Amino acid sequence: NTVFLNGTFMPLEEARISPLDRGFLFGEGLYEVLPCYGNRMIAWQWHKERLTQGLQALDIKLQYDWQQLQDFCQQLTQYNPEPDQGIYIHITRGAEEKRFHGWHNNAEPTIFMMTFPIPTLTEPDFDQCKPLRLGLEQDLRWRNCHIKSTSLLGNVLHFQSAQQEGLNEVLLLGDDGTITEASTSNVFICKDNEVHTPPLSSALLPGITRRIIMDILDRHSALTLQESVITQDMLFTADEVWLTSSTKGVVPVVEVAGKTIADGKPGKHWLDTARLYFQHRFD
Ligand code: PDD
Repeated sequence: NTVFLNGTFMPLEEARISPLDRGFLFGEGLYEVLPCYGNRMIAWQWHKERLTQGLQALDIKLQYDWQQLQDFCQQLTQYNPEPDQGIYIHITRGAEEKRFHGWHNNAEPTIFMMTFPIPTLTEPDFDQCKPLRLGLEQDLRWRNCHIKSTSLLGNVLHFQSAQQEGLNEVLLLGDDGTITEASTSNVFICKDNEVHTPPLSSALLPGITRRIIMDILDRHSALTLQESVITQDMLFTADEVWLTSSTKGVVPVVEVAGKTIADGKPGKHWLDTARLYFQHRFD
């Protein structure tokens, strides 16, 4: 498995970073995960935009321009044989001379990238899909969830508690008791012919798959799309619930906190939307 570290492609076993790297010491970094189907990176521009915002928020200046970074990603996928891969990009402030909470910005950022195999995107259907069962918890993460930070302890603890209960994922409740997102995904609900997803705020990640699904529905579907605050009542009376992420695509949810959603089966709007997402890959 070939990875990229600070300008060099190398076997994973040879990749080394300093223990003084601020990513290691403070979790002070950003990451992106983007799917690449048949050597075609999906929504690079939007991932780049989100990363740019994160870099600005953390005051990190990259030593490469965006074209170079895109070329490195493309080259990395070519080093690895699988046709469909997730690309993981990890950028930290780098290693300064000693551990000190404040930064001096005299270190070169550390840029690490690796790929991992992802399932080939196939024409979605009811028989093949794997519906999800979710938990529901008060969000215990920090208050800047719009930044795609490598400090994922909160997300990890939420996700692990779901796994321990034999669930796939966990929906999170904001301070006002409404649903914001899940620990590794965004959320959509459908009621009648309306689709709702929570509006962007610092309580959730501006997911790229969320954005793609919104764009697709807007352009190709008769469903009405709204960014709406989603209460627990709306969730439990919804006809359909979906999760979205770069690694999952759009996936139906059939149970939350032990309660069945509608008839407990993936819905027709999910199928139509997943088909549009499948076709979108060729856009
Ligand atoms: N997770 N919300 C959270 C908290 C996430 O971690 C993710 C993605 C999303 C969906 O974002 P996108 O559509 O851009 O993938 C929403 C990635 C895949 C991960 O951590 O591996």
